[in-house]
Amino acid sequence: MNLSAAIAARLPKLPPATDAYRVLDGTVWPGVFVDALADRLLVSLRDTELPQALAEQLRATGRPVFVKRLDKDVKEAPQYFCGPEAELQFEISENGVRYLMDMGAGYSQGIFLDQRDNRAEVRRRCRPGTTLLNTFAYTGAFSLCAALSGAITTTLDLAQPCLTWGKRNMELNGVNPDEHFFCKGDVLHWLERFARQGRRFDAIVLDPPTFSRDEKGRIWRVERDYGKLVEKAAASLAPGGWMLCTTNCRKLSHAAFRRLVGSGCPSARLKSAPMPFDFDGEDYLKCIWLQT
Ligand SMILES: C[S@@+](CC[C@H](N)C(=O)[O-])C[C@H]1O[C@@H](n2cnc3c(N)ncnc32)[C@H](O)[C@@H]1O
Repeated sequence: MNLSAAIAARLPKLPPATDAYRVLDGTVWPGVFVDALADRLLVSLRDTELPQALAEQLRATGRPVFVKRLDKDVKEAPQYFCGPEAELQFEISENGVRYLMDMGAGYSQGIFLDQRDNRAEVRRRCRPGTTLLNTFAYTGAFSLCAALSGAITTTLDLAQPCLTWGKRNMELNGVNPDEHFFCKGDVLHWLERFARQGRRFDAIVLDPPTFSRDEKGRIWRVERDYGKLVEKAAASLAPGGWMLCTTNCRKLSHAAFRRLVGSGCPSARLKSAPMPFDFDGEDYLKCIWLQT
């Protein structure tokens, strides 16, 4: 399938007011992924080179095109490839929500498109006054969706630039960040603190990186530690509360992830959710909605 046919096939299936989606998910050329981000195209290459046929099709689109490598040890910002000159910073829309993107921000551009359905579900589940804790928040996309439904959000991340980006995303959508909470630091540390203080949330989002170090340099791995994370988070969940537990850890099977989540909160009901329709390649993302 060529690129314009792939775009044409995606467009009618997208939710309204959405201009960011996966065009090719490694299904035509293994290791080659193409995302549409507003008028720009972003190609990600994992352990492969840009196919000549795709390079020609990218030039023919007349759109600004950037390319980045997703190889295991290479973490670099996208490089300009072809098309009209374009600002590195721009906006995308998803379900009518606007997000700031940055091609110059390094390895990640501001939003993970594979979480689109989960962001919509968070927005659907939240009500005015729902208290939501968004851990490993990155640019706060889940907080923003919750806030747009009237939730009072707490956004937690190790990196101050991510929290600042999250506040700017709120402002862009007419949400006042001063009416929300932003905490810098290690998630496990904050979860212990919330539990000691007896602080409870109606909803918690857990979307950690596969591998991380806490502030003291201790290593944290999804395959080993997710159950403990769920247990710690469950201690800060209000009665009747829900959690979104998700990971993009490829080493973990869906069944093993479900067991890990269940081990952290044995009395909860678990419901698995699929990836968005445009991610039709590898089924790597695990998503479980946990209801107490
Ligand atoms: C996979 S991204 C999360 C994506 C985010 N949930 C979203 O949907 O946009 C991981 C984030 O976790 C943060 N992080 C990594 N280790 C952390 C830790 N120990 N405590 C708090 N944040 C951490 C990183 O700074 C990064 O922003």
